[in-house]
Amino acid sequence: MKPLPTTETVAVIGAGAMGSGIAQVAARAGHTVRLFDMNPEAIERGIASITRNLDFLVERGKLDAAEREATAARLVPTTRLEALADAGLIIEAIVEKLEVKQTLFAELERIAPQAILASNTSSLSITAIGSVLRAPERLAGLHFFNPADRMRLVEIVSGLATAPALAGQLFATAKAWGKDPVHTRSTPGFIVNRVARPFYAEGLKVLAEGAASPASLDAVMRDGAGFPMGPFELTDLIGHDVNYAVTASVFEANYGDDRFIPSLIQHELVLAGRLGRKRGQGFYAYGEGAQRPAP
Ligand code: NAI
Repeated sequence: MKPLPTTETVAVIGAGAMGSGIAQVAARAGHTVRLFDMNPEAIERGIASITRNLDFLVERGKLDAAEREATAARLVPTTRLEALADAGLIIEAIVEKLEVKQTLFAELERIAPQAILASNTSSLSITAIGSVLRAPERLAGLHFFNPADRMRLVEIVSGLATAPALAGQLFATAKAWGKDPVHTRSTPGFIVNRVARPFYAEGLKVLAEGAASPASLDAVMRDGAGFPMGPFELTDLIGHDVNYAVTASVFEANYGDDRFIPSLIQHELVLAGRLGRKRGQGFYAYGEGAQRPAP
C-alpha cells in the first residue's frame, strides 16, 4: 500500500498538545498542513510550540535552517473549517467527547467529500464516531502518542466499517512520516490506553491510601523500575481532563468494570482546573521549566 503523496494537503483540527505535534510531523514529512482550531489563541500557542520545537532541533544540529524555514512555511493556520476542503487527509485532535467529534465529522463529510478522515481519539469508538457518516468506510483512528513529534508509536484503529485499504494507506503514511504504526481494531482504549490504564489507576489508589506521595512514587517507578515516567508526571503531561475522560470512556465501554473506575482524586484536579503542565499545575507545579510538588 502506498502512503499519501506529499503533494496532498493534510488538515489538522485542534491545535492543542496533540494537534500541534501532529501538524509538525506532517509538515516535516513535506505536506502542506492546514491547522484549524475554533479558538484562535490555541492556534497561536500551537504554532509557537511548533516553532520552539523546530528551533530546538536546529540548535541540536538535527535539522538544517533551510529545512526549518520550509517546514514552517508549509504550516497554514486557519479558523475557517471550509478552508480544509482541499485536504486529502483530515486528522481530528479535539476534545475527547463523542458527540462533539460526531458533529465535527458529519460537517467534514459535507465540506470535504473526498478526504480520508482520521481521529486521534485516545479511547472513543471509531465505529461510534463513524456511525453518523454516510460513508463510514472513509474513517479510521490515527492515534499518536504524546509528544507526537517524538513518540514513534501510532495506532491505526479500524472501526467496523473502516475500509481495509484505508487502514493500509494510513499505516504506510505513518511509516513514511517516520513512525512505527500498528494495526488495531476499535476496542475500548485500543491497545495502549487499555493496557496502561491500571498503571495510572494503581498509582492513584496508592496515593488515595496515603502510601506514598506523587514525587516518591514517580521516582520509584522511574528510577527504580525503569519506566520513562511515573504515573503522576505522565498524567500531568497528558492533561488530567484528557486522561480522566479516557478512563471514564474505557470504564463506560466496559460496562462499568471496577478495574477501570475513574479516580476521585483526578476528578478533583479536573474540577479545580489543575490540568497538568498545560495549565502550570497538576500533581506538580510548573514555572520557568521547574517541576516541584504542588502546594
Ligand atoms: P488539548 O486540550 O491540548 O487540545 C484540544 C484543542 O481542540 C483545543 O485547542 C481546543 O480549542 C480545540 N477544540 C475543542 N473542541 C473543538 C471543536 N469542536 N472544533 C475545533 N477545535 C476544538 O487536547 P489534546 O491533549 O491535544 O487532545 C486532543 C485529542 O487527542 C483528544 O481526543 C485526546 O483524547 C487525544 N489524545 C491526547 C493525548 C494526550 O496525551 N494529551 C495522547 C493521544 C491522544
